[in-house]
Amino acid sequence: MRFKDKVVIVTGATSGIGAVTAEMFAEEGAKVILTGRNRERGEKAADRIHRKGNPEAEFMYCDATKLEDVRKLRKAVGDKYGKTDVLFNNAGIFVTSDLENLDLEDWNRSIDTNLNSVLYMTKCFLDLLRPCRGNIINNASVSGLDSFTSGTKTYMYGASKAAMIKFSKLCALNFAKEVRVNVICPGIIDTEIYSNRDFSRFLGGIPMGYIAKPEQVAEVVLFLASERASYITGTVIPVDGGMSLT
Ligand SMILES: NC(=O)c1ccc[n+]([C@@H]2O[C@H](COP(=O)([O-])OP(=O)(O)OC[C@H]3O[C@@H](n4cnc5c(N)ncnc54)[C@H](OP(=O)(O)O)[C@@H]3O)[C@@H](O)[C@H]2O)c1
Repeated sequence: MRFKDKVVIVTGATSGIGAVTAEMFAEEGAKVILTGRNRERGEKAADRIHRKGNPEAEFMYCDATKLEDVRKLRKAVGDKYGKTDVLFNNAGIFVTSDLENLDLEDWNRSIDTNLNSVLYMTKCFLDLLRPCRGNIINNASVSGLDSFTSGTKTYMYGASKAAMIKFSKLCALNFAKEVRVNVICPGIIDTEIYSNRDFSRFLGGIPMGYIAKPEQVAEVVLFLASERASYITGTVIPVDGGMSLT
């Protein structure tokens, strides 16, 4: 029960890596706030946690690209819990295009979701994280690193995630005495972020030779959020089966 009585916020917890990570935090005693835009899926995810024996998980609606929504979330969490121990900035979208056909609306949506949301959440929750020596984990991607195995059309995704990594390092440096900030860079994880469910196209670029499950990413998030990682800040950890080596 590493997270007993800890308040944990997971953005984009209505599916995929976020939903699984929320579930695993809850299994270890955390009071988890699952956020996202799909109310039905978010409430179902919270219900799954209740049925597994933790009654304290709850879904709170928040479009992380909207500063007003993030402010409301901050107020609701502050009023109810008075602190935040862990913030997992996980909400994200994956849109690719060649440059010639790149749609500016898609570009703005990618920057809003994958980068600006992290700014809004960090700015709004900092004062709840600082007093309890909390920590932040930001979910980037191998696409944000110097690797092109995840695709050569990842202008929007790769640029937004690379900027998120730099932003995270600056936060880690500037708030080192109060809040730890770390980044994970998943490779190819089996979630609904891919509309094309035929993962065989990726296998050649993964040295370990298989697609990972969300649980394998969540384990790393829980480690970084835990006391076992108490001296770790500003790190960028690929969780990618070796993909970023190629
Ligand atoms: N799967 C992979 O291979 C992979 C690899 C590297 C990195 N990642 C990163 O992992 C994170 C989670 O992705 P996933 O693979 O688990 O995909 P997913 O199942 O599609 O989950 C994405 C989550 O983001 C949320 N989201 C999207 N836009 C949002 C917004 N405006 N406001 C709030 N929440 C929003 C979605 O919730 P709502 O629709 O309810 O808002 C959903 O819960 C993303 O940041 C992604 O870039 C994934």
